Amino acid sequence: MAKNIQAIRGMRDILPDETPRWQWLEQQVREVLASYGYQEIRMPVLEMTELFKRSIGEVTDIVEKEMYTFADRNGDSLTLRPEGTAGCVRAALEHGLLHNQTQRLWYQGPMFRHERPQKGRYRQFHQIGVESYGMPGPDIDLETILISARLWQVLGIPDLELQINTLGTAEERAGYRDRLVAYFEAHAEQLDADSQRRLHSNPLRILDTKNPEMKELVAAAPSLFDHVGDETRAHFQSICDGLDQVGVAYVINPRLVRGLDYYSRTVFEWITDRLGAQGTVCAGGRYDGLVTQLGGRATPAVGFALGLERLVAILEDVHGSQAVDQADAYLVLVGEAAQAQGAVLAEQLRSEVPGLRLLSNCGGGSFKAQFKRADRSGAMLALVLGDDELGRGEIGIKPLREAGRQHSIALPALAGFLKEQLSR
Ligand code: HAM
Repeated sequence: MAKNIQAIRGMRDILPDETPRWQWLEQQVREVLASYGYQEIRMPVLEMTELFKRSIGEVTDIVEKEMYTFADRNGDSLTLRPEGTAGCVRAALEHGLLHNQTQRLWYQGPMFRHERPQKGRYRQFHQIGVESYGMPGPDIDLETILISARLWQVLGIPDLELQINTLGTAEERAGYRDRLVAYFEAHAEQLDADSQRRLHSNPLRILDTKNPEMKELVAAAPSLFDHVGDETRAHFQSICDGLDQVGVAYVINPRLVRGLDYYSRTVFEWITDRLGAQGTVCAGGRYDGLVTQLGGRATPAVGFALGLERLVAILEDVHGSQAVDQADAYLVLVGEAAQAQGAVLAEQLRSEVPGLRLLSNCGGGSFKAQFKRADRSGAMLALVLGDDELGRGEIGIKPLREAGRQHSIALPALAGFLKEQLSR
């Protein structure tokens, strides 16, 4: 026999018993985003490689090590999107959505990063992302963070920690960068290989190291906050004040730098300790320089993305995994005449009873076998149509989830009966 072909490492199938939770999560997020006036945009999963190099940054883990990049048949270098922000800006620019107007957009879909797979970290994963354009003030940063805070309320997820920081403007960061490099150079012997490599290419990322041996060194490093100007400070303070006023708790983490280069000023992450090492479920910030970097006019921008796999895992942890039934009723068809009539009856019921989830037995089988299938489907009721019932113009009804004997009703009364059952 031929060997089974398996899914690619780090790319998961989401199975039917998991999809109800995904659908519920996606629906809740969609409703919250609509309540803030955000509109959906859908971008392709493939983009020109250059887009990600220019936006995420050449010296980031994503661009250096994690992208799925390949040559198209005509030689173009293409990349499966590792995130959605770059594509969203590309699309907004391409279609003139940023010209003299503000935009509040969201998207969802698979993203691809060739990371080492582990719990909560996959090579294909899913994000819902939110991006807004054209608004320079701290009010939109605040709104963006408040959307995420409301999501946890609606989803019933407690104890996520909000960490925020400001990275200053590009100019402010440049001045700080020199100080930081000088500091790390003075302690070069304490830097691990990764940090030595980053020292001149992307020194801010050293602050984000997960290496416990460098913890003290990083803690004593000069703080970016001491190098930002009054405007950046006021912008940050205004967000903090807004969060205080609305009553959203936060922690200022001066070491929060993010793994993508396009951020300026505000950055934030929501973190949990329920998921082991992969604790960030939502992350984002302001990225005022990106639109110009991609060829557009200077446009303020801010956004975040949720990691859906991580959120689903938290939901399971918080609410437990619930069995979800597949149907309300299962139509058992025994005998030739009944089987021949099955599709007609089932179609009629689906037309007449809005919302009815009806599984109609296909593939024959004994009475007993069909009842077994009915039971496994989780349906409340078995509708039993045998040749005898059909001859009398009746159908049997057998409750499957509560005690009760089978009884018969007239076929024309069935739709009304099911409507009543559904409204119970
Ligand atoms: P990010 O921090 O790279 O930001 O990803 C956002 C979220 O996606 C993470 O917090 C995490 O929940 C999830 N995530 C990332 N990588 C993986 C993975 N390998 N497996 C499972 N989940 C993962 C961005 O992507 C930015 N585009 C966010 C943004 C939008 N900033 C501004 N606008």
